[in-house]
Amino acid sequence: MERTLIIFKPDAVQRGIVGEVMTRFEKAGFKIVGLKMLQPSEEHYHKHYEGIGTLKTRKGNEIFESTLLSMQEGPVIAMVLEGVEAVSTIRKMVGSTEPKSALPGTIRGDFAHVNYNQATTTGRAVANIVHASADLNEAKQEIDHWFKKEEIFDYRVVHEHFTQPKS
Ligand code: CDP
Ligand code: MG
Repeated sequence: MERTLIIFKPDAVQRGIVGEVMTRFEKAGFKIVGLKMLQPSEEHYHKHYEGIGTLKTRKGNEIFESTLLSMQEGPVIAMVLEGVEAVSTIRKMVGSTEPKSALPGTIRGDFAHVNYNQATTTGRAVANIVHASADLNEAKQEIDHWFKKEEIFDYRVVHEHFTQPKS
C-alpha cells in the first residue's frame, strides 16, 4: 500500500479549512497514519523544496525564496495518508499548482482562484492550500523528513474490508 505526504499550508490553517479538506481524503477512503501541527525552520523547508524537491532548479531562486518565506508565515499541519495508488490519486484530488488553472472539483480549484502573476506582484508564493508528494520517490523521502518512525501508526480502517483478500 502506498503512502504520501500532505501539508496543509499556512493559508489553509489560517483560513480554517483544514477539516473540510481533510474530510475529502477520508471520504475517498485514505487512511490517516500520521498527523501533527508544527512550524518548521527555514532549513527544514530548504531541504523539502530543494534537496528532496527540485523547486529552485525548476523554477529559479525568486520563486524558491518566496515559497520558503510563505511557508514560514505560520504553523502547518503535516499528514501521512495511506491507500491504493495514494500518491497519484491524491495529486489528482489536489489539482494543478496554480489555482487559476486547477479544475473545479480539485482542492486547489475549489478553495482558491489566484494566479502566478498576482502572487509574483505580492512577492508571495501562490497560495494553494496543500502540498502533496509528486511521486513515490518524493513521498518516501518527504515522509522520512517530516515524521519520525514512531509518529506513523498501523491500524485497520473499515475501507480495508473492500481492499483485502476475501476471507
Ligand atoms: O506544489 P506542486 O508540486 O504542485 O508544485 P511545485 O512546482 O513543486 O512548486 C512547489 C510550490 O512552490 C507550489 O505549490 C507553490 O506554492 C510554489 N510555486 C509558486 O508560488 N509559483 C510558481 N510559479 C511555482 C511554484
Ligand atoms: Mg512539488
